[in-house]
Amino acid sequence: MIKFRFIAPNGPDYAAERMLRWEVLRKPLGMPPGSEGLPEDDQSLHLIASIGKQIVGCVCFFPETETNGRIFQMAVSEEYQGRGFGRQLLQTLERSLIKRGVRDVYLYVRSESEGFYQRMGYNGEGDLIKRFGEMYRLMKKAFPQSSQEEIFPTYKEA
Ligand SMILES: CC(C)(COP(=O)(O)OP(=O)(O)OC[C@H]1O[C@@H](n2cnc3c(N)ncnc32)[C@H](O)[C@@H]1OP(=O)(O)O)[C@@H](O)C(=O)NCCC(=O)NCCS
Repeated sequence: MIKFRFIAPNGPDYAAERMLRWEVLRKPLGMPPGSEGLPEDDQSLHLIASIGKQIVGCVCFFPETETNGRIFQMAVSEEYQGRGFGRQLLQTLERSLIKRGVRDVYLYVRSESEGFYQRMGYNGEGDLIKRFGEMYRLMKKAFPQSSQEEIFPTYKEA
């Protein structure tokens, strides 16, 4: 069974989260281990997905104001992609952000993953931006404050 939990950036699971980030997001770009570490890690929320002892997904959120911030370093382990875990992971983060009073989020996404975020209700803005030799798009989502059903229409909870 897949489980989701927030971890501390100085806690025991952080190294495994970093390894997943490197394998999924940096290694394919030919970047060395360590390149996945970012200065904002220390001030960010880190949500991980695990199956047994294996960390299979992660996503981070860097708060920029009390109501706004950036989602970054979202990754699902290659062997577990395409099973709905990315959707569950991102929705778990979004629910927590809504409870924390966050209203607007944004992220930079590689062109090939844009469709995933579109399905999750994110809207692309502006031209593609080149970073690490790859093309990225700015995407944004505003959380409606009225009811969670509007945000997650296909995933109602009992
Ligand atoms: C992008 C990523 C996080 C998605 O996670 P996932 O677990 O594979 O996605 P899910 O199985 O939850 O997919 C949810 C929906 O998005 C769709 N989807 C997933 N990846 C997609 C993609 N790359 N392009 C278009 N649609 C996609 C799925 O078909 C599914 O659609 P549905 O509404 O019909 O069910 C994951 O594939 C990944 O880590 N990719 C490599 C790293 C990456 O690009 N990370 C993003 C940061 S730039």
